[in-house]
Amino acid sequence: MKFQAIKGVRDILPQESALWNRVEQAAREVFGTFGFAEIRLPILEQTQLFARSVGQETDIVSKEMFSFQDDEFPELHEFRAFLIFHQLSISNTTPFDLFKAQATGFVGKLARHLERSELPKTPESLRAIKEIPLLLMTLEKIHQEYAQDASSQLQDKFDLNLSHIREHLRAVQLGDNLSLRPEATASVVRAYIEHGMQVLPGNVKLYYMGPMFRRERPQKGRYRQFYQIGAEVLGASDAPGIDAEVIEMLMRLFERLNLMGTVLSVNSIGCKNCRPAYLERLRDALREIRDAWPPRLEHDTLRRIESNPLRVLDSKVESEQAVIEKLPRITDHLCAECRAHYDEVKRQLGLRGIAYQENWRLVRGLDYYMRTTFEITAPGLGSQNAVCGGGRYDGLVELLGGPATTKGIGFAIGTDRLVLSLQESGVGEVSGGPARPAGGLDVYLAWFGAAAQTAAVGLVRRLRDAGFVVELPAVEMKFGKSLGLADRLKARHAVILGEDELAAGVVAVKRLADGTQQKLAEQDLFSYLRAARDF
Ligand code: HAM
Repeated sequence: MKFQAIKGVRDILPQESALWNRVEQAAREVFGTFGFAEIRLPILEQTQLFARSVGQETDIVSKEMFSFQDDEFPELHEFRAFLIFHQLSISNTTPFDLFKAQATGFVGKLARHLERSELPKTPESLRAIKEIPLLLMTLEKIHQEYAQDASSQLQDKFDLNLSHIREHLRAVQLGDNLSLRPEATASVVRAYIEHGMQVLPGNVKLYYMGPMFRRERPQKGRYRQFYQIGAEVLGASDAPGIDAEVIEMLMRLFERLNLMGTVLSVNSIGCKNCRPAYLERLRDALREIRDAWPPRLEHDTLRRIESNPLRVLDSKVESEQAVIEKLPRITDHLCAECRAHYDEVKRQLGLRGIAYQENWRLVRGLDYYMRTTFEITAPGLGSQNAVCGGGRYDGLVELLGGPATTKGIGFAIGTDRLVLSLQESGVGEVSGGPARPAGGLDVYLAWFGAAAQTAAVGLVRRLRDAGFVVELPAVEMKFGKSLGLADRLKARHAVILGEDELAAGVVAVKRLADGTQQKLAEQDLFSYLRAARDF
């Protein structure tokens, strides 16, 4: 069997990883100058964390997460399966006693695990440990009555109680529901609350980088395992200057990377005071269109009218565009505070010389946003051209159980798309230029003879300690073959060490670009290589 990477995931090979490293390094440097520190987050979290923050109704949570139920106690699963599928009849004494003993044992174990918080304390599990013992007692009574008077009525009662027990058993959750993270803002907020970061002075500024997982239909720039570089600011202030500075930081990074042609779009989607009234307006307008003839909205849009009408504004369906353009706009229905906040964000962007365009349809696909939302597109990406998305999420910390006073704003860059855009624009060419992988190979050290090998091992160590990239053949090769390999590896120099050189206390250095060769003592070799590198 031949294994291949699964659908929507891919390997990032060394030719490309050099550029990835450069991008990540630039982000560390730029974010560092804005006072951000790195947080490393787990890739697995409780499914509920994303359901509550990103939103149950969003595509990400409802369709795209890779989720599973953890199974830390496999014996409980077997136990339960035995109880659910065990053939039990009222007329048979031994199986009933066995069933009762097993069910009691199961409930006991379950209660112990719940008490130690080793299993999720769902209402269903708590109900099961309370109800099953009572149902077992009733069952036993019926069983005993049946021994005196074997009526079919008792038989029905027995079966009914038994089915109740089985329902309770089925409802018990025997492990945490976990998901591979589809994004990391929820994790940052979870960590912020878990580690009591609200006591830290000033704003807490964190950045992260790493893989995210969404079961989307793969295409250029869209993967199931993709990478993000993100940053979040959490703290008591929601000053518009924070929004503008976060965006400025992004722009500095893109500038540093020579990413040209980016377009920044901004919007405000209001707050819990003004958005509900706007949503009703929007829904009413959409219902009117829905009920008119001829039909002008697609199935997905129709569904969203009731569940999540803001997302209708996201529609890319060509035939719906004219209709959507005439819908009420949130920016015309902001409350005074949101309007003032939005105006100030724009003023502060201007102050920093950051060009932007306003897009009233920029609502984003995650539920936690309020007020400022923004997105940046980059060239060369086709339809998946959003290289970064972000926004303010002031209520999220409170929603996840933290202090109501903590506000938040942040963004995530799609690293795959950023790299792709750099490559498309030629900035990320691997050969030559700043993206060359770690400077390439400085020295290929060709040795000939056992004594030369010993000397070569020592020399290589000293060269590497001095920071040169060196390749040392592990076995002796013929001269021509060895130098041929040095060429193919694109080494800048072949350093040749044979018996003659050893005896003379020198090495031969060949510059592979033009074949010039000279003999040097070790200390001269180092300064020669250093000069060649700087050149
Ligand atoms: P998002 O818009 O879902 O926001 O993702 C941010 C960026 O991740 C997108 O603009 C895109 O570049 C990239 N991205 C998303 N899905 C994929 C995919 N399937 N394949 C490749 N790239 C992808 C968030 O995730 C928010 N957590 C951002 C945020 C941080 N908001 C506030 N703080």
